[in-house]
Amino acid sequence: MILGNGSDEIMDLAAKTFLEPGDEAILGDLTFAIYRISVTAHHGVAVRVPLRDGCYDLEAMARRLTPLTRLVFICNPNNPTGTMVTRRELDRLLNHLPSNVLVVMDEAYAEYADDPEFPNTIEDVRRGAPVLVLRTFSKMYGLAGLRIGYGLSTPEVVEAMNRVRLPFNTNSLAQSAALAALSDETHVARSLRVNREGRRYLSESFKALDLRFFPSQANFIYVDTGRKGEAVYEKLLRKGVIVRHIQGSWLRISIGRPAENRRFVKALADVLKTK
Ligand SMILES: Cc1ncc(COP(=O)(O)O)c(C=O)c1O
Repeated sequence: MILGNGSDEIMDLAAKTFLEPGDEAILGDLTFAIYRISVTAHHGVAVRVPLRDGCYDLEAMARRLTPLTRLVFICNPNNPTGTMVTRRELDRLLNHLPSNVLVVMDEAYAEYADDPEFPNTIEDVRRGAPVLVLRTFSKMYGLAGLRIGYGLSTPEVVEAMNRVRLPFNTNSLAQSAALAALSDETHVARSLRVNREGRRYLSESFKALDLRFFPSQANFIYVDTGRKGEAVYEKLLRKGVIVRHIQGSWLRISIGRPAENRRFVKALADVLKTK
């Protein structure tokens, strides 16, 4: 195991440790931006593969493997689309992987996933598969400001990253808070329940509004407003509702508490009525 000043430090460390200039890293084209930033900053080449129906397309990614590939980033569930890759899809990729390629599984939102097909990658780590599983205390445990996450991988991978890691990367306050958070089962159970109910409520509301969205395994939902996303974002902002616009007509909506979700749906319905 390796600790990071947030799990994003560990993805950056993976790029820093395993990429030589010109080496390739494969990632989704609509995903967490840090993979591309870190790969590029460490003089690697980010090979961006289009998602399919909002999902990481592992078959298409496998086709992009070359002798220069060193890393494959998979965001599961994916930010911003909320979709997941299944055990079967991941196994197929792992079976095709050349021995010098490491799969970075960014599972920042994994605690919210409840689909039985969601892969248990800790089992992959246990059997020595070439995966680096990243988890964080920033999401389900609500400690984003304290900056602490962790990575699980083979002793060889962890040792290589430890040689590059700055020695005092995580602070003692964050470590104490993370330990306390692990035993706060009541908080986790409540967060999960609130998120699951909110996810169902928002999904049903989008259906009622006739809006397309991707089935989410995370604590946000990606929805197609069918309008200029930026304009809808601005109008929602004026009503005091903050969502995330990344591109096109889609918005990423964080799942909130019941009253917040209702307020958002009402604001969205109002905005969509005004052309
Ligand atoms: C997919 C994904 N991975 C990792 C992170 C970063 O988490 P951390 O706070 O542990 O660096 C985020 C934060 O937004 C994220 O969306």
